Amino acid sequence: MNPLATELNQQIEKAAPAVSGLLSDLGQRIYFPKGILFQSAQAKEKAHKFNATIGTAIENNGPMHLKVTERYFNLPPAEVYPYAPPAGRPKLREAWREKMRKQNPSLGKKPVSLPVVTSAITHGLSVVGQMFLNPGDVIISPDKLWGNYRLTFETVLGAKIATFGMFNDKGGMDVGAFKKLVTAEGKRAGKVAVILNFPNNPTGYTPTQKEADQLGKVLIEEAKKGTKVLSIHDDSYFGLFYEDSTKESLFGQLSDAHPNLLAVKLDGATKEYYAWGFRTGFITFGHPAGEALYGALEKKVMGTIRAMISNCNHASQSVVEHILADAELAADWERTFEVMKGRALKVKEILDRPAYQKVLAYYPFNSGYFMCLKLDGVDAEALRVHLLEKYGVGTISVNATDLRVAFSSIEENQLEELFELIKKGFLELKKEAK
Ligand SMILES: Cc1ncc(COP(=O)(O)O)c(C=O)c1O
Repeated sequence: MNPLATELNQQIEKAAPAVSGLLSDLGQRIYFPKGILFQSAQAKEKAHKFNATIGTAIENNGPMHLKVTERYFNLPPAEVYPYAPPAGRPKLREAWREKMRKQNPSLGKKPVSLPVVTSAITHGLSVVGQMFLNPGDVIISPDKLWGNYRLTFETVLGAKIATFGMFNDKGGMDVGAFKKLVTAEGKRAGKVAVILNFPNNPTGYTPTQKEADQLGKVLIEEAKKGTKVLSIHDDSYFGLFYEDSTKESLFGQLSDAHPNLLAVKLDGATKEYYAWGFRTGFITFGHPAGEALYGALEKKVMGTIRAMISNCNHASQSVVEHILADAELAADWERTFEVMKGRALKVKEILDRPAYQKVLAYYPFNSGYFMCLKLDGVDAEALRVHLLEKYGVGTISVNATDLRVAFSSIEENQLEELFELIKKGFLELKKEAK
């Protein structure tokens, strides 16, 4: 074990023994080296004569860059060309934490860590998975999940996703099924890792406030029994809450809930600010030990990032930092929110008509980018291919019964035609099956 890793592990053990027990083997081994980045950061402060540390180029006291590149940016060169600080631009990190507090009143003044910038949420999932999951470990998720979790957690890391049925027959979240799985896993392993994604991909569901409280309570109760709990919150679609759901992340209630519980929030500008290609996301920790723990965890995150991708895109961090400070952001975002909400409600209005109700059932949805049809008697993949080939309509088959529709990508005045074609295609296949 590298002595720097040992030092971080000792800090974590001292601040939060349960978190120490949650770290994977790699999570224990990883550290942020006193290598080029460390030495260059030190030189930045002290090398007043010459700084010949880092592998970038300087000209006229600024970053060397090509004139042709400059044409395409109207940001200062220093905000584009150099490597970003390893944990992200400090002002951006502060601003993101402030935004998080404002939008999650249940966070109050709880001590959450300064978010570390990742190359968006997929990368954040990977970093957290590497730090906390060993091959063979189980991570609990609703059975409605983003398919890429399988690639990240199972294929790459060798962990196993255990699912519970997300919905009960009353059209709400099946908290009982969640509790059963959490309790069983706690008993079996003494350690429980959970990933909850709301607004959910693929269904577009976010729990009601009551359900959210109940879900949180399940994890807190489990932690109180002595089980070490890792609660990962994939808040990719945060803010897009159209109806009766909670308007907060579960991270708020869990972030200082119990010493045995580490809450991790993954979020970013990709979905929330419609900046998918920016690849700017964040990892934030919540634990009652606060700063005594966060410093060491942050170093481990930085080490994982350094090992995997070295550094996150700087230009897009600068843009996100600027838009967060822009007085027009709120109104601009509100406009897009209303467009997305209009589409979601329109989809519901269409599917709730008797002509549709008889044919197409759907899972509850109230938020996000998507909704998901629950097909009866027609294979989702067969319908997807049929819709594509006969009508030029693209959808996603999630499994044999579920067809995901991204209403986020369809104008409101085209939803009528889209669902008419889906219904038609469905009925054609259903007839064939008879
Ligand atoms: C639930 C969920 N998490 C994470 C991601 C990845 O987001 P990003 O583009 O920020 O990596 C997606 C994207 O589809 C998603 O649906």
